[in-house]
Amino acid sequence: MATPTFNVLITDTGERYRCRSDQTVLAGMENLGRKGIPVGCRQGGCGVCKVAVLSGEYQAKVMNRDHISKEDEAAGRVLACRIRPSSDLEVQVLGSMKKNVCYVRKPAA
Ligand code: FES
Repeated sequence: MATPTFNVLITDTGERYRCRSDQTVLAGMENLGRKGIPVGCRQGGCGVCKVAVLSGEYQAKVMNRDHISKEDEAAGRVLACRIRPSSDLEVQVLGSMKKNVCYVRKPAA
C-alpha cells in the first residue's frame, strides 16, 4: 500500500507542498527547494524549525523543552523536524525560520 501523502500549506507565503506521512514536515519543506530554509540538526535539538500548526493532525516525537514548552506543544507550537502529518496541515512559520522562509528580496535601489 502506498504511503499516505498530505498537503501542507505555509500560511505565511501561501506555498503548498506534499508531505508523506513517513516524512517530517521539515523534510517536506526542504523539498520545496527554497534557499534559506534553516535546516539545523533535524533532530529537535537546535530549535530553528519552530512552527505553529493552525489546523490538521500530526504525530509528534518528544520535543526538547528548551525550545518547546508544554504550553507551546499544547497550543500546536512544535518543531517541524519532530512532526509527521496524519492529515492535511496548515502551518505558520515561527522564530528564526520565519525570516528565511518569508524572505522577500528587496528590489535593487
Ligand atoms: S532542525 Fe533542529 S530542532 Fe528542528
